[in-house]
Amino acid sequence: MYELTIEGTGTFEVEEGTRLVRAIEECGVDIGHRCGGHSQCTTCRVTFEEGEPGVMTEAEHEKLTDIGQRGEMRLACQVVVDRDMTVTPLMRVEDQGWDDAGPETAVMVEPEAEWFPIETLDDA
Ligand code: FES
Repeated sequence: MYELTIEGTGTFEVEEGTRLVRAIEECGVDIGHRCGGHSQCTTCRVTFEEGEPGVMTEAEHEKLTDIGQRGEMRLACQVVVDRDMTVTPLMRVEDQGWDDAGPETAVMVEPEAEWFPIETLDDA
């Protein structure tokens, strides 16, 4: 188990390997996941205050590069909890005026995930 601290909400015990977007939601925070966790919508965006993984999926790297936000935020649907983390969800249902957060996200990261050190993706 690891400690997940969500700024403004609290600290929670989370099972290792839990998809971050699901962990945040299970902690009662209405984080967006409007594409259902496929690294397309970017509404699961978070900033890390602590514990940011040094690895990233190609899908996340490509999407963050597309929107010019690489190094500024991470996509919680592409991250799994593998250490203590402190995060701030940036797009929440109550702030955005959505009817809901989006389609349920799968337990496993989609597209099927392989993680690479961020610097190797930057150099590719
Ligand atoms: S990019 Fe859509 S849920 Fe993560």
